[in-house]
Amino acid sequence: MFDLIVKNANLPDGRTGMDIACADGKIAAVEAGITAEAKEVVDAGGYLVSPPFIDPHFHMDATLSLGTPRMNVSGTLLEGIALWGELKPIQTVDDIIDRAMRYCDLALAKGIGAIRTHVDTCDDELKGVQALLEVRERIKGYIDLQLVAFPQDGVLRDPTAMANTVRALDMGVDVVGGIPHFERTMADGAESVRLLCEIAAERGLMVDMHCDESDDPHSRHIETLAYETQRLGLQGRVAGSHLTSMHSMDNYYVSKLIPLIAEAQVHAIPNPLINIMLQGRHDTYPKRRGQTRVRELRDAGVTVGFGSDCVMDPWYSLGKADMLDVAFMGLHVGQLSSRADMAWCFEAVTETSAKIMGLEGYGLSKGCDASFVLLQASDTIEAIRLRAHRLKVFRKGVCVASSDPVSYQITAQGREGALDEARLR
Ligand code: FE2
Repeated sequence: MFDLIVKNANLPDGRTGMDIACADGKIAAVEAGITAEAKEVVDAGGYLVSPPFIDPHFHMDATLSLGTPRMNVSGTLLEGIALWGELKPIQTVDDIIDRAMRYCDLALAKGIGAIRTHVDTCDDELKGVQALLEVRERIKGYIDLQLVAFPQDGVLRDPTAMANTVRALDMGVDVVGGIPHFERTMADGAESVRLLCEIAAERGLMVDMHCDESDDPHSRHIETLAYETQRLGLQGRVAGSHLTSMHSMDNYYVSKLIPLIAEAQVHAIPNPLINIMLQGRHDTYPKRRGQTRVRELRDAGVTVGFGSDCVMDPWYSLGKADMLDVAFMGLHVGQLSSRADMAWCFEAVTETSAKIMGLEGYGLSKGCDASFVLLQASDTIEAIRLRAHRLKVFRKGVCVASSDPVSYQITAQGREGALDEARLR
């Protein structure tokens, strides 16, 4: 007797008509035609069952703060940082917790099972850290939250940022962050990367830096991050987030740089929605695109996962915790249009990002956590095309969110009937 069997599911690897049996919060079997009994049986109806969506880059301390205290008029990263600086002193720990919890309800409903969020450590009270440590505890039954100590105003540029970042790590923040391109000089940026990587090495932590988030073709902090990763033996534990300057770099230099990133096993986390909005703001026409060289990094063997970055905050007014929106935008901006490339974009918001976060028990194999999402789509490419509706979200064998299928009622004369856009073919 199993706890749960999901019957007739399509899987991301292309298998169809599969049953998934679950017991004690784990997947016990993935086979066709399981006949054993279960306390709960769910008919997937030939729709896709995927492991949970994973968001490897987010800013939960700022989410849902849109318009407080004002809007970002220029639409640039730098005005966003200035606006966030106006909000920080006037928000309370409870404000941050309240917004984060509401966001996590939405993320859960959208099938997100884990989030890596940066949390600003340039605040002597560490309000964001206090808040998100509390949120991490409150939501652990349904979302894994990984916190990155993020000195938003520059760990060297802000006089108390280093001490506060270390204090945040002492309080239980998981990962070391940074923002070298926001330091006063290129030299200070490189120095910040060195110091922060040394802290991670001493403490045995992962690193995830905002790196070269600009259109400056001469920004070189990802090179330093790869170098420090190699020097300190941090291979496989370091990610560079954004990396947008790589879009504008000289091709010859990139031909040297990408193999260095791959050699150091530094992961890349582009954030397609936000950077297509923020980058290229100083260009006339043609305008540069705000995305790093996704295809080239991937083809060189770099692990590339897409992050969402922002939802309704000083940097981005839109967003709805939908990692399929993220994949959709990443696919378009990267012109990843072959069948294999589109399927890869789905992986970039699921298993690849789980790997970057170092999640255990992730996947749809026997022995993995019985955590998965039933989508109203037949396969992963269809899921991206439709930004498919989430029908059921399971966490360790328990349904934690659900909704009715989307169905349109056609009443036009001669075509009356129900339309399921996921079953057009
Ligand atoms: Fe970010």
